[in-house]
Amino acid sequence: MTKQYTRFKDISVSERILNTVFLLTIGLAYIMALINMYYTHQGRDGKPGLSMNDIVIMYHGSNTQTRLATAITGIMEPNLKYKGDKDVILKWIHDGAEENGYRQTIAPILNRDCILCHTPSINPALPDLSNYAGVSEVAHSGGASLPALVRVSHIHLFGIAFILFFIGRIFLLCEINIYVKRIAVVIPFAAMLLDVMSWFITKNISQFAYVVVLSGALMGISMGVQILLSIYQMWFYKR
Ligand code: HEC
Repeated sequence: MTKQYTRFKDISVSERILNTVFLLTIGLAYIMALINMYYTHQGRDGKPGLSMNDIVIMYHGSNTQTRLATAITGIMEPNLKYKGDKDVILKWIHDGAEENGYRQTIAPILNRDCILCHTPSINPALPDLSNYAGVSEVAHSGGASLPALVRVSHIHLFGIAFILFFIGRIFLLCEINIYVKRIAVVIPFAAMLLDVMSWFITKNISQFAYVVVLSGALMGISMGVQILLSIYQMWFYKR
């Protein structure tokens, strides 16, 4: 005789009620998390609304919104001896602010127009523009820092693992094909891991922002399916 596992038909009404309010609350929390994500990330690229560019800037940073570009098109512009040098510097920033280009075209400009103020011995508080390391710091714009990513990752992994575990425990009481079920309980966990991993990769490779979005969506969808199917089977499913 095969062992009988617990299914929704075997649990009490009070247990079903507890399961249902838990699942509904998690569903609401997830919707709030989506809205929160929209408000915190939209408009990073200067345009209203959430776009792929906002995600790239968040993790990878941006070549167009660097401190050097802002300064050179704003308050520091009058210090340039030749107006045309502004575009030379902006192009160099846009092309990735590499050391080679710095040596060939950028250092001569900065040494002539900027380092009379931007040298640590004269003004320790200002960005040091007398060498590549200092210039590079203001010519690249951040993206997420490694410590910040590690912090957000550990909170997500701990927190979401618990949520997925409890949703999964309830979902296991559904009556569906056991092979489908075995795969279905793994998908949201795998999607979450892929999501967190791709944050770190996007920091270096901006195209991975698509993986961040797709794996995040997969986690949400698989979680949503587990929640809806569980609630449906708990109350409406007749064999
Ligand atoms: C006469 C002195 C002087 C010269 C010359 C000068 N700067 Fe500055 N720079 C300053 C001061 C002072 C600040 C701080 C301004 C502030 O914080 O409001 C500053 C700030 C900056 C910043 C930082 C802005 C930020 O994000 O906080 C950058 C980048 C910069 N300058 C670039 C340049 C470049 C490029 C040149 C040469 C074209 C240049 N500066 C020439 C005095 C100078």
